[in-house]
Amino acid sequence: MSIAVIGAGTIGVGWAVVFARAGHEVALYDPDPARREAAPAELSLRFGELAEFGVLDREPAPIALHARLEEALYEAEHVQECAPEDLALKRELFARLDALAPPGVPLASSSSALTASRFAPGRARVLVAHPGNPPHLLPIVELVPAPFTSEAVVDRVYALLRDAGMSPVRLRREIDGFVFNRLQGAVLREAYCLVRDGVVEVEDIDRVMREGLGRRYAVIGPFETADLNTRGGIEEHARRLGPAYARMGAERGQDDPWTPELVAHVTAQRRALLPLTDWDERVEWRDRMLLALERARREAS
Ligand SMILES: NC(=O)c1ccc[n+]([C@@H]2O[C@H](COP(=O)([O-])OP(=O)(O)OC[C@H]3O[C@@H](n4cnc5c(N)ncnc54)[C@H](O)[C@@H]3O)[C@@H](O)[C@H]2O)c1
Repeated sequence: MSIAVIGAGTIGVGWAVVFARAGHEVALYDPDPARREAAPAELSLRFGELAEFGVLDREPAPIALHARLEEALYEAEHVQECAPEDLALKRELFARLDALAPPGVPLASSSSALTASRFAPGRARVLVAHPGNPPHLLPIVELVPAPFTSEAVVDRVYALLRDAGMSPVRLRREIDGFVFNRLQGAVLREAYCLVRDGVVEVEDIDRVMREGLGRRYAVIGPFETADLNTRGGIEEHARRLGPAYARMGAERGQDDPWTPELVAHVTAQRRALLPLTDWDERVEWRDRMLLALERARREAS
């Protein structure tokens, strides 16, 4: 059995590393001879870096390069498609994958924006499994089933990726841009506006992120940030700062108020994750993580 990785570009090579380092044999296919020739050196470089930083836990399983799709799919237990982001190409490719891959084997696309409904309508074993770039260094992967994707397929892909050391997040429904790129887009849209309006220069935006928001986001997400920034937690944060954030949104033509019901919904989930009795301890943990990051930053520079 092996994992078939279809397309040996940036993302395909990254996925091959993810699966091989977890002990899965990989069959890596690319129609371009130049990519097949370049891939082995790229794989060696990545495995070498993982070993150098002490985060390669085992000898990677073998990765075989293939020029024929049929051969790559021959003993596949999972197919990870990483071909260019082109609707017509993915449509044709998924029709071939569905015809050639062993029955019942999940067909997962790395697509950044195209949904399975658009490139594989009606095919129950197809879903999107969208990684960050590079996949072998960012554990997140968004699982985006189409309405017709079988639950069992989603469960199987979730378990495979989790056991391979990834951190899958399951979206309840298809949405343009998924979650990763919608969050990224919200930041980037505002960054463009601030530069356009002459508020700051490009490097200032990157510094605010690098030296501030981003460092904290390396440890905790936006909801936990709000929760830990205000004594009393996220409910108190929304009470105090909600109106200011609503004004900033309105300035950009956005009207998505944090209604009492929405704040209560978010608060209930945060309190289930962190009772307020543990709040001080978690703030201390955050600070120690930021210290560890600072130490790693100093060591690296
Ligand atoms: N680069 C990113 O930041 C990123 C992040 C997450 C997801 N993705 C998604 O991953 C997919 C691959 O992106 P990439 O950045 O690796 O692109 P890439 O251009 O680096 O690699 C694409 C590879 O697919 C090969 N290819 C061309 N036609 C093919 C076909 N018919 N069948 C199989 N392979 C074919 C190409 O030869 C190339 O090696 C895209 O859907 C992209 O949106 C990209």
